Amino acid sequence: MNTILIGSQWGDEGKGKIIDVLTTDADIVVRSQGGNNAGHTIVSGKKKYILHLIPSGILRSGKICVIGNGVVIDPIALVQEIEGLRTQGIKVNKNLLISESAHLVMPYHRALDEAREQMKGKNKIGTTKRGIGPAYGDKAARVGMRLADLMRPEVFEKKLRLRIKENNLVLKSFNEKSLSFSKVLKEYQEAASLLKPFVINTVAYLHEAIAKKKNILFEGAQGTFLDLDHGTYPFVTSSNTTSGGACTGSGVPPNSIDSVVGVLKAYTTRVGEGPLPTENTTIGTMLHEMGREFGSTTGRARRCGWFDSVATRYATMVNGVDRLAITNVDGLDELKEISICVGYKIDGRGKIITIPPLDAEELARCTPVYKTMPGWMVSTSNCKNYKDLPLNARRYLDAIAQLTGAKLWIVSVGPGRDQTLWLK
Ligand code: IMP
Repeated sequence: MNTILIGSQWGDEGKGKIIDVLTTDADIVVRSQGGNNAGHTIVSGKKKYILHLIPSGILRSGKICVIGNGVVIDPIALVQEIEGLRTQGIKVNKNLLISESAHLVMPYHRALDEAREQMKGKNKIGTTKRGIGPAYGDKAARVGMRLADLMRPEVFEKKLRLRIKENNLVLKSFNEKSLSFSKVLKEYQEAASLLKPFVINTVAYLHEAIAKKKNILFEGAQGTFLDLDHGTYPFVTSSNTTSGGACTGSGVPPNSIDSVVGVLKAYTTRVGEGPLPTENTTIGTMLHEMGREFGSTTGRARRCGWFDSVATRYATMVNGVDRLAITNVDGLDELKEISICVGYKIDGRGKIITIPPLDAEELARCTPVYKTMPGWMVSTSNCKNYKDLPLNARRYLDAIAQLTGAKLWIVSVGPGRDQTLWLK
């Protein structure tokens, strides 16, 4: 069974935890897009792990983790992540495979990400400043460097010299410091020797695994509305976060995929700039006071709002979601009443629309039309089965699954592995 798991909202849906529990049945876990802008938090016993580039399967023994061709890799950050995991007692050797076609994030990508954001001023995207946009930009412009280049010292040195020369001119136009070719070369060569044992043709590996009927889990990063094509452009990330991206970014064809799981929070959050129709400071303050909703990559407080079924229904359509995992239900435990957005009105007037305008300016003009449901006002975090949930919580979950248009499969009531409720 090959399953793609994606975020149905604006990222941070709690995918890390769901991937972790689904990994029990997987042989291989694959990352196929994004870079170390992602941050997947996994709580195992008393330990907490935050992964940025390495698939969450690394925490379970006997699982193979693949970083596919569609990922952009900052080799220095990846080496740090591997070393960090080893310090925490996690084995990283033959269980990690990295695509030779994955593009590299270079120091000039990070510098340009930061400089462009600064120049945009109040129109900034609010990126993670990890160099993701400029790295994918170079890939599309066919001037990127790949892991395969890094593995060939002479090729890398030659390409790097040219790329540093050109990018220093660009950095100069932003009044930014230029980069030292020899310093970057040394740092990247060191990382290259550490990463070499992991680098292979992952496409061939995955096809062999499919022929052997292995179970593959594709671990999505970010969420549907951050997708470069289907999200709220330009307030998006630079990769395809939707299910199609998992195929392109791994070389596994669509007809090898059996199921698409959409992960969604029981409410809505977003980090960075861009429209968020159901944004609500009351729910935001409540969640922040509970110590929740701070980004795992940048530590930024996430913007919060009511559940938006206009958005999640669209996500079901674009991704072909057939099963849902709803997380963070316990975040709503204290509320007397809960609102669900069932439609938008543009400028608060006229016809109710149920397809989100993807133009960021038009989406920003949308005001939500809400349906209100009673809360449950008891803690759900100790529930062990779906039927243990209070009736009002089950009614709420049924309503959001029905509006989202896919089958409810998993409900999560806390970060722990044992706080996972399964439906048939
Ligand atoms: P970038 O991916 O760093 O270029 O950032 C572009 C937008 O995507 C910004 O609004 C970021 O906050 C958002 N973003 C990137 N990665 C994540 C993530 O893993 N979770 C949530 N938002 C993200």
